[in-house]
Amino acid sequence: MVLHTDRLRLRPLAIGDAAELHALIGDPDVMAFWDVPEISDAEIAGEILAAQLFDVASGAAHYWAIERSADGAFIGSCDISDISQQHRRAEIGFILARQYWGAGYALEAMRAVVRHAALQLGLQRLSARTHAGNTRSVALLTRLGFHHEGLLRGYVERAGARHDCQIFGLLL
Ligand SMILES: CC(C)(COP(=O)(O)OP(=O)(O)OC[C@H]1O[C@@H](n2cnc3c(N)ncnc32)[C@H](O)[C@@H]1OP(=O)(O)O)[C@@H](O)C(=O)NCCC(=O)NCCS
Repeated sequence: MVLHTDRLRLRPLAIGDAAELHALIGDPDVMAFWDVPEISDAEIAGEILAAQLFDVASGAAHYWAIERSADGAFIGSCDISDISQQHRRAEIGFILARQYWGAGYALEAMRAVVRHAALQLGLQRLSARTHAGNTRSVALLTRLGFHHEGLLRGYVERAGARHDCQIFGLLL
């Protein structure tokens, strides 16, 4: 389903977005707090996109491409994943290309996604997981009304080092 906001259009991510997604996740700045470092291999980026689209097809997730309405620019991607119909809960994610940070685009996109999760999908809980130090992500989640729920010590092994993560939750 396409979601519209004042400045953005969120449309379902598609196989044709492979090059844009590769550029996005190939940037070390953008991937500084991701579970894996930047992905320079286009084939691996394609596999990630294929896995996301598989999750969409199986009903476990929704992935959107975020486009700026004014010029159609692909500015990033966001998602609702790990959907549990039984427990009416899911996880959210968001990632913008570096040049689009600091304009309120992620907040605008995720407000629409949270509304969609509640009203269209009937979800009652959303969670988000951030790596320690991802202050921009924490600021965004806080603005969206998420509460800090806990610390997952050594949750991720990235490039040979263990990293703590924080869990945030929002009851809808
Ligand atoms: C996390 C991420 C999406 C946040 O992007 P962002 O642009 O900082 O987030 P927001 O949309 O909330 O924008 C907030 C900033 O826009 C500014 N802003 C400008 N115009 C605005 C407007 N109309 N409305 C709201 N904020 C506006 C705010 O003042 C704030 O600026 P600041 O960073 O100087 O404090 C981005 O940093 C990112 O893609 N990071 C890499 C991927 C990642 O780590 N994802 C999260 C994994 S958990």
